[in-house]
Amino acid sequence: MVASAVASAAFSRGHEVQALPHGEVDLRDSALLRRRVSEFRPDWIFHTAALTKVDYCQENPREAVEVNTIATKVMVDIAEKMMANLVFFSTDYVFDGSQHLWYESSRPCPLNIYGSSKLEGEILTGGFFRGHVIRTSGVFGERLDGKQERNFFRAIASRYLENDAAIKVVNDQTTAVTYAPHLANMTMQLVEGGSFPKLVHLTSQGYDSWYGWAKHALESACLDSGRLVPVSSDSVDFRTPRPRNSRLNSEIPEVVSLIALHPAQQAVAEYFSKVLQQLREEAGIRE
Ligand SMILES: NC(=O)c1ccc[n+]([C@@H]2O[C@H](COP(=O)([O-])OP(=O)(O)OC[C@H]3O[C@@H](n4cnc5c(N)ncnc54)[C@H](OP(=O)(O)O)[C@@H]3O)[C@@H](O)[C@H]2O)c1
Repeated sequence: MVASAVASAAFSRGHEVQALPHGEVDLRDSALLRRRVSEFRPDWIFHTAALTKVDYCQENPREAVEVNTIATKVMVDIAEKMMANLVFFSTDYVFDGSQHLWYESSRPCPLNIYGSSKLEGEILTGGFFRGHVIRTSGVFGERLDGKQERNFFRAIASRYLENDAAIKVVNDQTTAVTYAPHLANMTMQLVEGGSFPKLVHLTSQGYDSWYGWAKHALESACLDSGRLVPVSSDSVDFRTPRPRNSRLNSEIPEVVSLIALHPAQQAVAEYFSKVLQQLREEAGIRE
């Protein structure tokens, strides 16, 4: 999702772009990765690829570290040799969720392997003088590599259309959601502005619980939000511990202004309506 949006935003702003999808390069094949990136000799590398399935990472810690941490070290080496800037996309899951708000200066303390493998990637990127880290959360948006995107709103739409059953959603985990094109647009503005922070929190504007986001999505499409059942995270049998409150916030004034221009609510409504239409077409359902 993020790669598709960043590549599109960069291309539409007149930059020359080379995307390297998973089907062409596995990050763990460091020789191939070096060769493919050096063929292009980029000025900027946007390192978006990661093993993002939280439960899978927990159950396959070695693979999580290989993809999220070790491959990031290779990416830093490549950027250093090529004198390129490197932007590493990271996550709210580097925090433990015990605070109300999380700023760039807040102390990370991941609760799970996904978070710790990404935090190690952050540390490696931060140690490189042309390295930048963007933390984001709750990403949604299209994928342009022919694969279907996985995100919260798509899952809600799909469960809504599947049958008439109640849909349980946690109401005590609060987060900012991020429309991938918002994230890409803000990233490009930071690149072009010439003073890209070393570490920055970038999301769309607005916070809510996951239940609140689901309710907003359904109501924006005039669907029955009464089917949603708010539940506490203690009542859900999560296989992997997750931060309860991962509200990312920025303490960088220019970034706060940038985020304010990218409201989440409208983007959720537009994206949700597109996904519903797509799913209905796939299932042959008429409105
Ligand atoms: N999604 C979120 O809510 C969220 C929140 C916070 C931070 N982030 C961060 O944002 C970045 C982008 O994530 P996203 O939301 O765009 O998720 P995504 O749509 O799942 O994209 C992740 C990409 O990484 C690729 N990938 C996985 N393992 C790989 C490997 N070994 N070699 C090469 N490519 C590999 C995946 O390919 P396949 O699908 O083909 O495996 C996929 O294209 C990640 O760094 C993630 O940690 C995401």
